[in-house]
Amino acid sequence: MVKIGVLISGSGSNLQSIIDSINKKYIFAQITVVLSDRKNAFGLERARMENIPAIFLSKKEAGNNDDFNSKLVEILKNYQVDLVVLAGFLSILNPNFVKTFKNKILNIHPSLIPSFCGDGFYGLKVHEAAIKQGVKITGATVHFVDEGTDTGPILLQKSLEVLPNDTAETLQKRVLTLEHELLPLAVKLFCENKIQFIENGKTTKVLVLNN
Ligand code: GRF
Repeated sequence: MVKIGVLISGSGSNLQSIIDSINKKYIFAQITVVLSDRKNAFGLERARMENIPAIFLSKKEAGNNDDFNSKLVEILKNYQVDLVVLAGFLSILNPNFVKTFKNKILNIHPSLIPSFCGDGFYGLKVHEAAIKQGVKITGATVHFVDEGTDTGPILLQKSLEVLPNDTAETLQKRVLTLEHELLPLAVKLFCENKIQFIENGKTTKVLVLNN
């Protein structure tokens, strides 16, 4: 069974969507650990309610970002994690982390990458930028993580219409609903070995295999 480590910083509603999908047997996997860089992240509570080990790791106590990353890697290895899911994790993973779990880190982003992504695009800011730009369609993306910010190979995307009356807040809410469908599906595809990486020079694309 695939062992999953989920990294969070906040509410953990995406974490919850994976927990629910496992409990419903939509996904055959086990979350062996949930890690947070914020002590009060509600996602830690969600994990504890399911008896999943939930660990807060202080960046401050770690000293610097590289030491923080080394600790993350150490814990994930201790919990024998095969797949790392970034579900609203706000810290930056360093190259060593990315190398250690190459093609095994998924991230969910609340826009259609490459729009409204990269440094500084997190939380409500993503949706504020979409509203400001006046886009008619937005959505969510699940991608594998490489050394860049939101630059890794795209696995799944789903779109929705931006309505004339939408605010950043209403958009965030509706995109989040999409995220809760998309992330479990991405995890399911990974667990069922239905993902193929196609390397072409410096670019990597991801193919979803049918049965
Ligand atoms: C989501 O919008 C996700 O796309 C982004 O951070 C948010 C996390 O929300 N990366 P939650 O903590 O899962 O509720």
